[in-house]
Amino acid sequence: MINIAVFASGTGSNFEAICKHIESGYLKAKIKLVVSDCMYAPVIEKAKQRNIEVFSFHSKDYQTKSEYEKKIKEKCIALEIDYIVLAGYMRMIGEELLTAYPRKIINIHPSLLPSFKGKGAIEQALDYGVKVTGVTIHFIDQNMDEGEIIAQYPLNIEHKSKDEVIQAIHAIEHEFYSKTLKKIWEDGYEKSTN
Ligand code: GAR
Repeated sequence: MINIAVFASGTGSNFEAICKHIESGYLKAKIKLVVSDCMYAPVIEKAKQRNIEVFSFHSKDYQTKSEYEKKIKEKCIALEIDYIVLAGYMRMIGEELLTAYPRKIINIHPSLLPSFKGKGAIEQALDYGVKVTGVTIHFIDQNMDEGEIIAQYPLNIEHKSKDEVIQAIHAIEHEFYSKTLKKIWEDGYEKSTN
């Protein structure tokens, strides 16, 4: 069984989708911790309803990133966390966690990286006028929305309204994240060389 910690800053629809895939038996993993940098994020209530331990923090209460990441690291080690799954965690991960979990921190981003990094990726793609956008799942590094790409899912957005695109991206995320995690955890993942 893989033990995971989910990090999220907001609504937590990806967290919920992962929970459902675990509850149905599709994903063989256990969420042992939810970490949020936003004390009032709806994801916290969703985690509590499922009796999952929550660590929420306010970054301003700490002098450095390393200080709060040390706390998170201690919790992850105590709970024997194997992978950190970022699901809408809008904060860069620092050295402390990157060193403790090399190639074990995975992120989902609502664009075809390296295009449209950062916040509002769906809106950025629409404003730019691209015809195809999508979803990327990648290992993270020290830079925002960068790191080795594991999988991508394209979406043609010609003739779609903003709401339709947002809905379609989220629908892809909710299936594609678990499908990719399952592949990594059950079949292993090797970087493609072609
Ligand atoms: C998701 O669309 C996720 O891809 C995005 O935040 C949203 C969180 O939604 N992540 C990023 O933009 C990371 N740079 P959720 O809280 O409903 O899961």
